[in-house]
Amino acid sequence: MIIQFCGLSGSGKTTLAERINALLKQQNIKCEIIDGDVYRKVLCADLGFSKEDRNENIRRLAFVASKLSAHGVITIICAINPYDDIRLEITQKYPDVKTVYIDCNIDELVRRDTKQLYHKALLPDGHPDKINNLTGINDPFDVPSKCDLVIKTDLETIEESAQKLLQFILAQ
Ligand code: ADX
Repeated sequence: MIIQFCGLSGSGKTTLAERINALLKQQNIKCEIIDGDVYRKVLCADLGFSKEDRNENIRRLAFVASKLSAHGVITIICAINPYDDIRLEITQKYPDVKTVYIDCNIDELVRRDTKQLYHKALLPDGHPDKINNLTGINDPFDVPSKCDLVIKTDLETIEESAQKLLQFILAQ
C-alpha cells in the first residue's frame, strides 16, 4: 500500500509518519517513510517549489514508493503534495494508493511555526528574508477533492491521530 499524505508544512506529517512507523513495526509490519525534506536533499535536489517542480517531486517519490509497495511494504509519501492533479495522477498510476489529508488550521500552523517559515512568509513585501512561495500563505494548496482519510492535527492528539491512521491501515 502507498499512503500519500498531503498537508501544509508543520501540520504534523513527519511526526505522524514516524509514530505510525513505530506502531506498525511493533506488529512486525514493514513500513517505509518517503519524506519530502529528506528526498529534496538527494533524489530531488534539483527541484524547487514551482508547481511543475512540486509535481515532479511527488512523481519521483511515488515511483520509489511503488517499488517498495510492490514488495508489501506500507510506504508513506510524506510531503506537502499541494496539487490535486498530481495526487489523482498517482492514484491512477499505481495500485493501492490511499490519500490521507493531514489538516490543521492556518492560525495554529502560524502559532507552531517550528521551522520559522510562516514568520518569513508573512514579512512585508520587499523584506530580504521574505519567502514568497510558502504553501498556504502565498502559494496554493488544493484541499483534496478525493481522499480516503482526514486527520485533524489541531483537534486530535498525536496518539489519537496515529491510532486513527493505524485502524485505517489495518482495515484495508
Ligand atoms: S512539495 O510541495 O514538493 O510536496 P515537500 O514536502 O517536498 O514539498 O517539501 C516541503 C519542505 O520544504 C517544507 O517542509 C519546508 O521545510 C521546505 N520549504 C522550503 N521552502 C518552501 C516553500 N516555499 N513552500 C513549502 N515548503 C518549503
